[in-house]
Amino acid sequence: MLRTDELIQKLSSTGSLEENEYAQLIKDYSEANAEKLKTLADAKRREIYGNEIFIRGLIEVSNICRNDCIYCGIRRSNRNCDRYRLTPEEILACANSGYELGFRTFVMQGGEDPFFTDEVLESIIKEIKSRHPDCAVTLSMGERSDESYQRLFDAGADRYLLRHETASKEHYGKLHPQEMSYENRMRCLRSLRRIGYQVGCGFMVGSPYQTEIEMAKDLKFIEEFRPDMCGIGPFIPHKDTPFRDEEAGSAELTCYLLSIIRLIYPRILLPATTALGTADGMGREKGILAGANVIMPNLSPVSVRKKYELYDNKICTGEEAAECVNCLKGRITRIGFKIVTDRGDIRKE
Ligand code: 5AD
Ligand code: FES
Repeated sequence: MLRTDELIQKLSSTGSLEENEYAQLIKDYSEANAEKLKTLADAKRREIYGNEIFIRGLIEVSNICRNDCIYCGIRRSNRNCDRYRLTPEEILACANSGYELGFRTFVMQGGEDPFFTDEVLESIIKEIKSRHPDCAVTLSMGERSDESYQRLFDAGADRYLLRHETASKEHYGKLHPQEMSYENRMRCLRSLRRIGYQVGCGFMVGSPYQTEIEMAKDLKFIEEFRPDMCGIGPFIPHKDTPFRDEEAGSAELTCYLLSIIRLIYPRILLPATTALGTADGMGREKGILAGANVIMPNLSPVSVRKKYELYDNKICTGEEAAECVNCLKGRITRIGFKIVTDRGDIRKE
C-alpha cells in the first residue's frame, strides 16, 4: 500500500489512482493533505487557465418537477413548495440583462417540468442564439430521450449539465425513488456525449449513505468518463424532505475533492457551487483556491429566487443579478483571480 504522500504524487503525475487508492486518499483527509493537493491543483489550473474565472448566468426556469429525488427541496411530493415557471419572454429577458452584465453563457436549469417540451425549448434556444450569437447555451433540464437531446442540440444548445449524483448503483437507489434508475441516468450522459454536447456530470459531497467508497467510485467515473464539466457541492438537508434530519456535507471535504478532480483532469471546468457558498460563507473563494474555475451567479428574477430552493438557506436569493455580479467580482479579485467576459469553453490542447 502506498503512503498518502506517494498517492498524492502518483495522482499529480499520472491523473489516475485505483479505486481503493482514491478511497484511502479521502479517508486520509487532513488539513496538511488538503494544503498539498490544493497547491498542486492550483499550479495545474494556472498552466491552462491562468487566473481567469468563467461566469455562467443561471436561469432557474421552473421548480415544477415530475421527479421525487429524496434529497431535493423541489421534489414533487413537497406540498410546501410554492411552484412557479418562467415564461419564454421572462427567460429571454434574463438572458438579455445577463448579456449586458458580461455573461456569455446562459444556463437554463429547472425541474423536469412537462411544459418544457422540445418545441418550447427549441424556440427559446434559437431565440437566445439569434440575439446573442457569441454566447453558449447550456441546458440543465434533467433526463430526456435521445431524440429530444438531439433536437435541442440541433436547435443550438452547446452544453448539458446532468449530475450523475452517485456512481454507485446501490447508492443511487437510496437517494432516488423506485421509478428512477441509475442505468437511465448513465444512458443520458452517454447519449449527450455521443450527440456532441459539452457534458457536465457531478455529485453531492456528504449525501446520506455516502462513504469514501462511493466517493472513490465517483472519482473513478470522472477519470474514465472525462466530462467537460463537473459540479460538486456539499449535500445540505431541506426541511421538507425525508432527509431533513440528515447531516450536511462538509465544505472542507468538497474543496479537497475539487483539488483531486483538478489533478485527475487538469482542463476540466469546475464550478465553485452555490451549495459550497451556502455551507461556508467563504466557500466559493475556498473552492476557487482549491482548483475551481467557474462561478454560476443567478440571473433569475428576484421574485422566484427563494422558490428554487433545492436545500435550506440558499445564498443570494435577495440580490439582483447586477448586485450579485459586483459582489462576486469583489470577492474574486480579493483572492487574486479575475472574472472574464468569455464563453469559457474547455481549453483543449
Ligand atoms: N443539497 C445539495 N445539493 C442538492 N441538489 C439537489 N438537492 C440538493 C441538496 N439538498 C443538487 C443535485 C442536483 C443539482 C441541481 O442540485 O445534485 O443535480
Ligand atoms: Fe450573490 Fe455576493 S455573490 S450577493
